[in-house]
Amino acid sequence: MLFSAALVGLMASAVASTPLKYKMPANMKVAADCVMPAEYSISSFSVYTDNTNQTTVSFAYVDSATGINTRCERDPASKPHSTNPGLASRYACDDANVEFIYQTTGVAGLTVIEAACPSSGSSAFEASGLVPFNLTCSSAPTGQNCTSSPVDISREFTSLQPRPAGAVAQ
Ligand SMILES: *[C@@H]1O[C@H](CO)[C@@H](O)[C@H](O)[C@H]1NC(C)=O
Ligand SMILES: *[C@@H]1O[C@H](CO)[C@@H](O)[C@H](O)[C@H]1NC(C)=O
Ligand SMILES: *[C@@H]1O[C@H](CO)[C@@H](O)[C@H](O)[C@H]1NC(C)=O
Repeated sequence: MLFSAALVGLMASAVASTPLKYKMPANMKVAADCVMPAEYSISSFSVYTDNTNQTTVSFAYVDSATGINTRCERDPASKPHSTNPGLASRYACDDANVEFIYQTTGVAGLTVIEAACPSSGSSAFEASGLVPFNLTCSSAPTGQNCTSSPVDISREFTSLQPRPAGAVAQ
């Protein structure tokens, strides 16, 4: 793998826990103690659909390198995270530095988005990754519950992009 001189310079100042699967933008300034999002774990992912076709998506999210351990849920009463219509499918986890999009059409799966270096005051960038699931569904009188198999999934972030205007935790 080839690293540009600028990338090596940035990597030397950021704390790299694991090799990153995405390129650091040349214009990204990171604090010396900033840990870039590299890997995340999803556990107990479930999609519950009740008899009126209302769905609740929930899972637990951990990024141990950046110290995030949060619950994420989108139920029929949840509001999108932003007033920016372009972000209408984004929902925030309990820790709003993490957002997610769950879609069953197009590129199906769970997209997770973690603000990069939010503790440095402003996070101009966000890391994201897509997790496809193998869901196992079981029916109950009140609806259908689909859960991921395996229950625990670890993935690497594959993209780092500027945080869009209107993202809350920016
Ligand atoms: C729920 O969705 C299914 C499949 O799209 C449809 O057949 C059914 O009529 C819907 N039920 C309700 C209560 O809307
Ligand atoms: C889904 O199942 C296939 C076949 O067993 C497996 O290769 C793949 O890794 C699984 N995907 C996930 C997200 O667990
Ligand atoms: C769906 O299954 C998951 C995993 O077993 C469980 O944690 C969750 O409570 C279930 N949801 C409902 C509404 O039964």
